[in-house]
Amino acid sequence: MSQAHESLENLLHEERCFAPGIEFAASANAQPEIYERAERDPLAFWQAQARELTWEQPWSAVLEWDMPYAKWFVGGKLNASVNALDRHVGQGRGDRVAFYFEGEPGDTQTITYAQLLMEVKKAANALTEIGITAGDRVAIYMPMIPEAAIAMLACARIGAPHSVVFGGFSADALLSRIQDADAKLVITADGGFRKGAAFALKPAVDEALKGKHNVEKVLVVARTKQETAWSDRDIWWHEIVDRQPLEHVAQSFDSEHPLFILYTSGTTAKPKGIFHTTGGYLTQVAYTHKVVFDIKAESDVYWCTADVGWITGHSYIVYGPLINGTTQVMYEGTPDTPHKGRIFEIIAKYGVTILYTAPTLIRTWMKWGDEFPCAHDLTTLRLLGSVGEPINPEAWMWYREIIGGNRCPIVDTWWQTETGAIMISPLPGITATKPGSAMGVLPGISAQVVDDSAKPVGNGRGGFLILDKPWPSMLRGIWGEDDRYKQTYWSRFEGIYFAGDGAKLDEDGAIWLLGRVDDVMNVSGHRISTTEVESALVSHEAVAEAAVVGAADAMTGQGIVAFVILRGGIAHADGEALLVELRNHVAKQIGPIAKPRQILIVNELPKTRSGKIMRRLLKDVAEDRQVGDATTLADPNVMKLIAAGLQSAKDED
Ligand code: WT7
Repeated sequence: MSQAHESLENLLHEERCFAPGIEFAASANAQPEIYERAERDPLAFWQAQARELTWEQPWSAVLEWDMPYAKWFVGGKLNASVNALDRHVGQGRGDRVAFYFEGEPGDTQTITYAQLLMEVKKAANALTEIGITAGDRVAIYMPMIPEAAIAMLACARIGAPHSVVFGGFSADALLSRIQDADAKLVITADGGFRKGAAFALKPAVDEALKGKHNVEKVLVVARTKQETAWSDRDIWWHEIVDRQPLEHVAQSFDSEHPLFILYTSGTTAKPKGIFHTTGGYLTQVAYTHKVVFDIKAESDVYWCTADVGWITGHSYIVYGPLINGTTQVMYEGTPDTPHKGRIFEIIAKYGVTILYTAPTLIRTWMKWGDEFPCAHDLTTLRLLGSVGEPINPEAWMWYREIIGGNRCPIVDTWWQTETGAIMISPLPGITATKPGSAMGVLPGISAQVVDDSAKPVGNGRGGFLILDKPWPSMLRGIWGEDDRYKQTYWSRFEGIYFAGDGAKLDEDGAIWLLGRVDDVMNVSGHRISTTEVESALVSHEAVAEAAVVGAADAMTGQGIVAFVILRGGIAHADGEALLVELRNHVAKQIGPIAKPRQILIVNELPKTRSGKIMRRLLKDVAEDRQVGDATTLADPNVMKLIAAGLQSAKDED
């Protein structure tokens, strides 16, 4: 939280505030009356948003709320892929570009709505031929290529919930997600391009499928054309998809039909399968995308730099933007390949008008230097967005000045995998923004900052962020774990959704997010649980015990720092070699994003008399702070030893 503390320090003398430009405000999609309209009758407001979608059958009730279970637009029927594609083509917008795809090696594709629809129809027919029917779960493990979106939409089209697993996750992580959702099919690619080279994905699928599962087929997109091991279970995407009929009449599904499962880290080692349904989810992603990003579908070129493996890719690349008929950029690779100006070059090339990215990338750009953005024409940009973690005021100001040329409003959007869509954000033509603040709840949403006993704290004070009314795109549960659903979100404050974040209201009532208050780290905007990394470490033969903390990191928000006690009596590699081995072991268990920034070998861990590890003290050490109150430690000397060990490790660096 020290990043957040820093923001709060700044807040004390943060007097900068940026009102929307007059022209922007005049033509903004959302006008000031929207807050009042939503306030007056929230359900009527949501009903009006839902009417923007195409429904085959209207709903009979807007909301059925049986805490903590919500049903939205009850009895309504619709198809997600029809809303994203068919209706644009049907209304004469088939020639509009849906995606400008830019591969890392420089290959490009321009895909119109008509072409995207045709590909999705063929893919849907292929899935049906393979034997996938409504309700079957499909795991998708792909690089950032158009087929990732096509696969998701094809699943949605036939009512098969997808479970997208980020391509950076390991075979082990993939297997556990395949097992948990009991997937019948895996869609993957031979590999993708990253950092100037082809990487392989298919071998990780083969490795994963050595475990116990019910996967019948593996559908493989040929992206890199690298040598790929093959079995009877495998089917090349092009061999089955290309020969399919071009027609596919989509069937409508119930508003509460499962649309997807997406795994996210919780406070235990086992990820949670966050489960979303159709009508409410699509309503809120389309509405928020339209008002927060002020999308003008005829003229904007929108670029969200997320990967489809995260919720941001689901809500603000695939579903929200396509429902709104948006033209977007999709980029396969990393921001520094082949040079550090790649993102800016692409903005200039396609005339991007709206950019949605993460604070970790903004800080990376700041470090690289202004010469990279300044070498490209960024004047087409008219709005900037941020998501994933608190954005520090310095980064916010840099984003505004250097990327936005002091002319673009910035929307700092707070939400979660669980909320499905943006909940807290400025509205660009209405809200005067303060650098580092997500400002206020969106029209239709209700949130509070409360104290321990669920009482609102009032302006000028901090507390826990809660959501006290159901919202359309809320999660409908944790896949297969109902008790965990209630326990995790609805028990800290009886009957109220607890997001897990701390927040503060400033004197004007603006909301400042302060980071997680549980044992969940936020590394480059990605959620990783301390427990998950600890169990990965302990699964290595050399490790007896491990404690992991998220320490403030200037670049990634938080960095993973692990304190490890080695097992006695077994031979293992020495010093540096062991540390490398442990870091690689974590990468193999979870994925490279979970690799600890630093591992410290210690003889003891700070524990209370009841045996609970005091992570707070370890965090003090990892963040170079004076160690806080250690009076409840069973062994008061242990912190001195750990701090001394850290100092000598630093001296060696
Ligand atoms: C957690 C959710 C939402 C898509 C990306 C992450 C943190 C997210 C912000 C923001 C401060 C933020 C929160 C939240 N977070 N956006 N604008 N300001 N913190 O999705 O992996 O589900 O993580 O990310 O801590 O709880 P996620």
